[in-house]
This record gives sequence, structure tokens and C-alpha cells, in this order.
Amino acid sequence: MKQELGVCYYPEHWPEDIWVKDAADMVAAGISWVRIGEFAWSRMEAVPGILTLEWLDRAIDVLGAAGLKVVMCTATATPPRWMVDKHPDMVAVDENGNPRKFGSRRHYCFSHAGFREESARITQIVAERYGKNPHVVAWQTDNEYGCHDTIISYSEPAKVAFQAWCKERYGTVEALNDAWGNIFWSMEYYSFDQIELPNLTVTEPNPAHVLAFRRFSSDQVVAFNKVQTDILRLHTSAPLIHNYMGRILEFDHFDVGKDLDIASWDSYPIGFLSDRLEATDEHKARFLRQGDPDMQAFHHDLYRAVGKGRWWVMEQQPGPVNWAPYNPAPLPGMVALWSLEAFAHGAEVVSYFRWRQAPFAQEQMHAGLQTPDGFEAPGMDEARAVGAVLASLKEQDTKQADVALVFDYASDWAWQTQPQGAGFDYFRLVFSAYRGLRRAGLSVDIVSPDTRDFTGYKSVFAPGVATVDPAMVEAVSDAGALGLYGPRTGAITEDFFIPAAGRPDLPGLDVRVELIESLPPNASMQVAGGGMAAHWHERLSGGAKVRLHVQDGGPVLMGHEDRWYLGSFPDDELWDRVVAMACDHAGVATSPMQEGVRKRQFGELEFVINYNSFSAIVDGHRVPACGVLVFEDDEPIAACDLSTD
Ligand code: GAL
Repeated sequence: MKQELGVCYYPEHWPEDIWVKDAADMVAAGISWVRIGEFAWSRMEAVPGILTLEWLDRAIDVLGAAGLKVVMCTATATPPRWMVDKHPDMVAVDENGNPRKFGSRRHYCFSHAGFREESARITQIVAERYGKNPHVVAWQTDNEYGCHDTIISYSEPAKVAFQAWCKERYGTVEALNDAWGNIFWSMEYYSFDQIELPNLTVTEPNPAHVLAFRRFSSDQVVAFNKVQTDILRLHTSAPLIHNYMGRILEFDHFDVGKDLDIASWDSYPIGFLSDRLEATDEHKARFLRQGDPDMQAFHHDLYRAVGKGRWWVMEQQPGPVNWAPYNPAPLPGMVALWSLEAFAHGAEVVSYFRWRQAPFAQEQMHAGLQTPDGFEAPGMDEARAVGAVLASLKEQDTKQADVALVFDYASDWAWQTQPQGAGFDYFRLVFSAYRGLRRAGLSVDIVSPDTRDFTGYKSVFAPGVATVDPAMVEAVSDAGALGLYGPRTGAITEDFFIPAAGRPDLPGLDVRVELIESLPPNASMQVAGGGMAAHWHERLSGGAKVRLHVQDGGPVLMGHEDRWYLGSFPDDELWDRVVAMACDHAGVATSPMQEGVRKRQFGELEFVINYNSFSAIVDGHRVPACGVLVFEDDEPIAACDLSTD
């Protein structure tokens, strides 16, 4: 596949007479793609119904004439001020019942019918105008659904839409009462219009009610996005993309992805390390200027699945950001490392955010490839270095990995609704499994829980999947793969009941959960042979073979030939043991990695990526600090070394 660089550009932020030079400089820096327009609605339609798009026509002409391929966006993430005056109830409402005001961005509720029409209208206008423009080669819908906690809204329009959603799903209110168990605490309803949104209740609302609302909220994003894709498809055959985010799980990205051609995401490794990841202070200090060595890779693998194989990094951090508690600069080499790592995971495009740092408004402290006064910022040289490495490599295609990891958005909603122990977080659990697999030197494919063909996988990990379709378990076994389930896999029904057959509700597994306890961090249980069962421990019984057990106690891991069940939330050492045992059993070759060093197989190439601020020796070869070494047939064929180490 072809792999290229891109950049995010805001022609509306700069005088028109510098567009030509900007475009030429982008091309000179090795950039092929430019994304525009996602926040420009107020300049496109300053007065309701009066469109001023000539400036955008000219911007596209200038960029296209320079040889750049334009990603055009629908501008719906930033409705103009007049829109809020026209539809005062279009804003989302927070958990405390407060409307979220105009003055930043994403000030809309996905359920507001009037805004949905406005969003269809502006999409139609740009689709008609640019759908056949030869320079517009891809489209982005909106911008970062879910950014700034904007999926869940407790507005009146959301309530009315939720009532209709419940009627559609359950048919009768009696069926809903039964499905939710509303006899408990006399929560029964007599008509759908009595059902409120699950905020501001006296104590916790019924988890079935909350989970239904979370499913509804996700469906609203899917429907909102589909209004745009349906319109765009009528006017363009260019691929449709959305730019997702890191660790934002409030909507099912696989569902949104069904209506798009390519998934993309916005990668800000240093910001994520400080504000979106649980890790020790030591880990955060060690990778302060590099980001976590697994966080980006995890999302690359996730979005490759969401994009059905096709994915980009739409926004790549090029220097310090502005939004984390502290905003350190990347070490020399890191911007190039992040970009090459994305390419190693199969990205088609890595696009930097943004071309030039803005001298005004909220993000004036956020670096770009240029400083506000037009000089090159440090990220620019790194982008060039990436271009040089790319040019030196033969084109490759992603190969299927040996190991798959199931990721299920609804499980995050379920376990947030009823964590049962403060440490139980779905992302954290799945990510800890992912880290364990990567510490074993493995490339990983993340897959959706709807996968029914696991052909080619030797092992499939599915921790924490709240509700499991038995067909998925059978499909894993049919593929001859070892399924590793639990903790908390097959633990509830779709409507948040304990399954009638007990836990875990997984076919062909003679394991029974007798009792569940959650534990504070200082009460983790020692597992015989090494590692800890932390946060969470299920007391297991049954006829399946016991493979690991608590020191002087009951089973932690049990299983038959092709399906195993893990009853605890492992610490890193225990994950390493479980991964090693599963890989050994399934015939997957592992190669334990040093801290901060990771491998990724990409086609015929193996990328060795060093997140450390010092060089590492891997298989007898020096991998530069904050650098990348690319191997073919066990021989290094390319390197990226920009560090001063
Ligand atoms: C992203 C967003 C961009 C910009 C960037 C700053 O979340 O899509 O518009 O705000 O963050 O890091």
C-alpha cells in the first residue's frame, strides 16, 4: 500500500496572500494531503442561508494547484452563534442538568432534530459544491465525535428520543419493565413517556436503564453521522472518514465505521500519557517526553479494525500540545518515531496537526510544523525524516497477526455502570492484556465482538466482554484457536441480568463462578508461581483443568483444550505468565521485549521501535534512542535516528 504524509490547515486563519507559499512549502516538506474546513462554518454562512464559499473555492484551487490532495470536512463540530439563537435547546445538557453554552466547540446535542437538519443542510451544500472537485479526494465527517464529553446529553430532545428508542426496542412498557427488572424498588413504568433519563436520581439508577441509555446515546452518534454519509455518497465517490480519538469509548466506533470507508484517529502521545492513562509515577517520568510505548499502537490496531483494514492518523502531535495538565516537548526523534510506528501498523496517511501554530484563541500554545510567525518548528525536520525513511522502503501490506484481541464498546458502558470495585475499568483491563502481548514481542489484531471468522488466528483474547454471543466462542474454536476469556466475560445479559445459566455464560466451558470479590489495591492476592490477582477475583469451580491458582487457594485460570477462563484481573507479571502459557499452548512464538522497546511486523518488514531516551541492543543491533530500526530477513535495512543521545 502507498503511505503518505498529510497536514491540517486552516486557510480561514491566514491572509489569502500566503496560501500559495504555504501550499508550496507543504509540498516541499514531502506532504501530499491537506485537511481543511472542519471549523469554518461561521465563515461559510455568517448569515443564515447566505453562503460565502468563494474563499473556500479559492483555497481548494490553491492547494490543489500545488499538487496537494484535499480532505474536505463537514463543518458541523462548530455551529455558528446564530444557530444557537435559532435553536436555543440544541446544546447538550450535562449530568447536573446544566446546558453547555456557546463559546468553544461541539455545542450540540446529537438528538436535536433541528440541528440534525441544519447539519444535513450544510453537508448537502458542501457535498454539491465540492463532491466532484478533482482536488477533493477524501472527506471527513464532523470532528472528533465525543471530544469534551459530548456524547451523553441529558437534554429534553434526548429524553424524547430515548423514549422512542425504548418503544422501538421493547415494544410494550410491560416488556421493558420485565427486561430491566423494574419490580425491584417499584420502579415500574406505566407508559413510555414516564421514562426519564438516568441522571439526578436519589441513588444509583437501575443499571439496565443506564446501559440502555448508553446504547441509545451511541446509536444517536451513528444516526447523526449517517445523515452526513448518505448525503455525501450522492455527490462523491471519494472515501469518507471520521477522526476518532484516544480512549474515547462513549459510542460504538465499529457501528459508526460501518458507514465510512476509512477510520482515522488523532494521536497526541504526550498529552495522553499525562491525562488519559493509569501508570506509576516512575513510568510517567520515564516516558514523559515520549508517550506510553503501547498507547498509540493499541489505537492503531483498534482503528485498523474499525476501518475494516483502512485507517489513517488524521492528527499527529508535532510538538507540545496545550490541553494536558503539563505539556512537555517531545524528545528529538519522537515525532518521527510516532509517525513511523503508525506506518508500521498499516496507516495509509499520517497527517500532522497543524501546519502553523495559531497566534490567537484557545490553542495558541499548541505547536504546529511552523511557529506562528512562519518559521519552521522542530516537527518539520522530523516530518522530512519520515518522508525519507518511507521513500527508502518497498511498499508493504498489513499481514494478519497470530493473536487477536476482542474490543467491545458496550462492555465499557456496562462496567462503568456497575464497576463493583473501584479498580475495574474495561479499557484498563483490555489494555493491560494488550501490553502483555506486546511485551511478548507480538503483533496484535484488535477485532470487534461481531467477528465470526477467526481463521488464521492461533489465539483470541477476550477479557471483560460483558455479553458474549455463543457463536463467537464457537467461531474461535472452529478456527482452531485458543480462546482466552475472563475476567468478567459472559457475565451479564444485554439487559444487565445475571445470565440464567450462571457465570460465565460461555458454551463448552466447565467453569462456574461461585462468588466474586473486588479488592482494594493493597489487598491483591499472590498467585502461586508469581504475579498477583488484583482488583478482582472470581472464585471458580468446575471440571476444567486448573492451570493457575492463588497461593494456598483456589483457581485463577482454568480451561480445556481450546477455551480457557481467567477469574482475576492480572497485574503485569501475571499477564506475562498467562500470555506465555497461552502462546505456548497455541503455538505462537514469542520474544520477550525490553521495557520501552516494541516490535511490529508489517508485511515482510519488522519495525523495532525504541521509546526509551537511550539506545537499546536488540538481536545484536543498536536501536537508536527515540528511534526506529527496520529489518528485512533479520537484517537492518533502514533506521530513523534523530536523537542527540
Ligand atoms: C484535537 C482536535 C483539534 C485540536 C487538537 C489539539 O482533539 O481535533 O481540533 O483541538 O486536538 O491537540
